[in-house]
Amino acid sequence: MRNEAGIRPMGWVTRIAAMLGESLRVQLLAWIVLTLIGAICVNLYISFKSADATAALVADHTLLASARVIAEAVRVDTNGTVEADIPPAAIEMFDTGYGDRVFYQVMTAWGSLVTGFPGMPQPKVAEVGEDGTFRQDEVRLIMLEHPIVGLENEGRISVTVAATHNGQYAMRRRLWLSDFTKQLVLVLLAGLVTIIGLQRGLAPVLRLRDAVRERGRQRLDPLPPDMVQSELRPLVHALNDHMERVQNQMAAQRRFVSNAAHQLRTPLALISTQASVAARESDPGRRDEALQALRASTRQVTRLASQLLTLSRAEPGSRRPRSDTVDLTATARQVLESQAEEALRRNIDLGLEAEAPVLVEGDGTMLREMLVNLVDNALRYSLESGRVTVSVAQQDGTAILTVEDNGPGIPEGERSPVFERFYRIIGTEPEGSGLGLAIVREVADGAGGSVILGDGSDGGLLVTVRLPIA
Ligand SMILES: Nc1ncnc2c1ncn2[C@@H]1O[C@H](COP(=O)(O)OP(=O)(O)O)[C@@H](O)[C@H]1O
Ligand SMILES: [Mg+2]
Repeated sequence: MRNEAGIRPMGWVTRIAAMLGESLRVQLLAWIVLTLIGAICVNLYISFKSADATAALVADHTLLASARVIAEAVRVDTNGTVEADIPPAAIEMFDTGYGDRVFYQVMTAWGSLVTGFPGMPQPKVAEVGEDGTFRQDEVRLIMLEHPIVGLENEGRISVTVAATHNGQYAMRRRLWLSDFTKQLVLVLLAGLVTIIGLQRGLAPVLRLRDAVRERGRQRLDPLPPDMVQSELRPLVHALNDHMERVQNQMAAQRRFVSNAAHQLRTPLALISTQASVAARESDPGRRDEALQALRASTRQVTRLASQLLTLSRAEPGSRRPRSDTVDLTATARQVLESQAEEALRRNIDLGLEAEAPVLVEGDGTMLREMLVNLVDNALRYSLESGRVTVSVAQQDGTAILTVEDNGPGIPEGERSPVFERFYRIIGTEPEGSGLGLAIVREVADGAGGSVILGDGSDGGLLVTVRLPIA
C-alpha cells in the first residue's frame, strides 16, 4: 500500500519501535512495564493453580466426610438384608448456597445397589477425588470403601458421593482473587518504586540538558562534571572539550579580525595624509612625488586585502574544495613571468629549474597564490643583485617545489612562528603584513602536502613544499 507521497506507511510495530528507540525514558519505562505485565501473567497462573488445588482438596474433604456419614448409616439387619437410612446431614454439608446438586450411591462388594442413584461412574482409587460426568453434570466424585459388620462375602460396601462444581469453583475464585490481589499490590508497588528510581536516575541528564540549553551563545565555560552520575561524566568532559575548542577558535577569530583592522588602518591613514599633501601641493614635481607615494600605499592596502581574502578562502571548510589537476611547472613559469619586472628592478637573477610537467591535484588559484607569496618573499627579503631559484620536480609520488634565495634566511627559532598570521620577524625592513607564509601553509595543508623551511646553499632561505602527485 502506498500513500500519495509514495512512501509506504510505517507499520504500527515499526512506529512503536521507532518511538521506543527515540526516548531513553520511554524505552526504560517500556521495559519496566513489559516486565511487570510478564510478572502479573506468571502471578495470575501460579495463583490460579494454587487456588484450584486448594479448592479441590477442600471439595474432596467434604465429599469424603459425606461418604463416611453415609457409610456409617448402612446396617445389616437380622435377615441379612443391607439397609441404609441416609441422614440428612450427609447431604446438607453441600448446602453452601451455590445450588450444588449432590449424588450418592451405596453398592455391595458384589455389585448390587443398596441405595442411591444407579449408574454413577466409579473412581478407580478409593478416597481420591476425581472429576467426572453424571447425568450431564460435571461433577467431582469420591469413593469410600467401608467394612460392614455382619455382611457376607467380602463384608465391604462402597460409597460414592458426587457433587457439582459450583461451590468448589466459587471457593477457587475467592482464593485466587485474594492471592492475586496481594501479589498484584506487591508487583505494582515494585513497579512504582522502579519508576520513581528511574525518574530520579534520569533527573541529572535532564538537568544537564537544561543547563546546556539555557546557556547563551557566548557562554562556553566548562560544565561541572559532577552534576551527572559517573557513567555520564565522559559525555560532560567531551562537551567541555568541544566548548573549549570553540572558545579557542572564537578567540583566534577575534584576534584575526582585530589584527586585520590594525593592519588596514595604518596604510589607510597614510593614504589620507598623502592625499591631503598632494591636494595642497602646487609644485607639480612635488605633487607627483606625493601621488607616487599615494599609489604605493594604495598598492599595499590592495595587496593586504587580497591576502586576507586568499587566507579566508584557503581556510578549511570555507568553501567547496576544488580539485583541478594543476601543472606545477606551468604555474611556476606563469608566476615567475609576473614577477620578472620586480626582479629586474632589483637586479635579481630569477630562475626556474624544471624539466617536465609535474601534475598535482588541488585548487589552481590557491596553488598559484602560494607560489606568488613564496617568490614575493624571496625577492623582497633577498639582497639587491641576489639570486632566486624556483625548482619543480617529482620523486616517489611526491611533487617537490623549492624556492631558494641567497638573502639573510630565517633563524631556526623563528621558523615555526613565521607561519602564524601577522607574524613578522622583528626588524624586518620591507613592508608586509605577516600573512604570506600563513597562506603558504594553509594552501599546502589544504592540498594534502607540507611545507618546511631550511637553509639555502648560499645561506639564504630554502622553502620546500611537498604535494601528492595527481
Ligand atoms: N625569503 C625570506 N628570507 C628571509 N626572511 C623571510 C623570507 N620569507 C619570509 N621571511 C620572514 O618571515 C616573515 C613572515 O613572512 P610572511 O608571512 O610572508 O609575511 P610578510 O612577508 O608580509 O612579512 C617576514 O616578515 C620575514 O621576516
Ligand atoms: Mg610575505
